[in-house]
Amino acid sequence: MAGGDTHFYRTVDGHGLAHDPFNAIVGPRPIGWISTRSVEGIANLAPYSFFNAFSYTPPLIGFSSIGWKDTVANVEATGEFVWNLATRPLAEAMNLTSASLPATEDEFACSGLTAEPSRLVSAPRVGESPVNFECKLTQLIRLTGIDGQDSQSWLVIGQVVAVHIDQKLLVNGVYDTAAAAPILRAGGPAAYAGITHESMFSMTRPDDQPQQKGRHADDHHR
Ligand SMILES: Cc1cc2nc3c(=O)[nH]c(=O)nc-3n(C[C@H](O)[C@H](O)[C@H](O)COP(=O)(O)O)c2cc1C
Repeated sequence: MAGGDTHFYRTVDGHGLAHDPFNAIVGPRPIGWISTRSVEGIANLAPYSFFNAFSYTPPLIGFSSIGWKDTVANVEATGEFVWNLATRPLAEAMNLTSASLPATEDEFACSGLTAEPSRLVSAPRVGESPVNFECKLTQLIRLTGIDGQDSQSWLVIGQVVAVHIDQKLLVNGVYDTAAAAPILRAGGPAAYAGITHESMFSMTRPDDQPQQKGRHADDHHR
């Protein structure tokens, strides 16, 4: 803020606040609720809020694991995972699946969720979730800092190869985001946000105004 009273810090020096504002600022974030299967056949399920979509063609989504966790190990071993939409009715179950369980224990069982078979990948889907993306690994990247040193964070990127959508969320062929009641991760250890019809608004892009011509063929998708 030019001329304002600003809290400034160099990240190497620390934020100097009661809580790190980093993920409260970059928030709320959609949740990558990721199911995988180990080579031995044990199902695994965990939420990852360092998550987003990155490309329309091919359809790519990604999430980042802070530390080498069971989810990343399973994706590396099998090349497959499923993304499940975390919704308000499933919030408490989603939270249970973040428990640090040994790789031999199945988070579906401990959270009371149903592991439904997928169609194109071996990882199961969360049966109770209204939307699932079946994904195949495209890149597993160990992240580095500006010093070029390897961090303990891994970015998993996968191509969505199949999509399941509860018909109730399709209104005249249009997916109704708010009707799905997705939950998002906000700042602080326990903060979440929800999406409702009231909290949504529309805005037409300049290139999509009647007098403008869009420059990119699939721009209107974003
Ligand atoms: C809403 C939510 C979001 C989370 N986001 C991340 C994340 O982005 N990256 C991460 O490494 N852990 C994240 N966690 C913690 C993991 O879910 C947790 O470490 C889990 O035990 C990992 O399971 P796994 O070892 O079976 O993969 C998150 C937890 C919650 C509740």
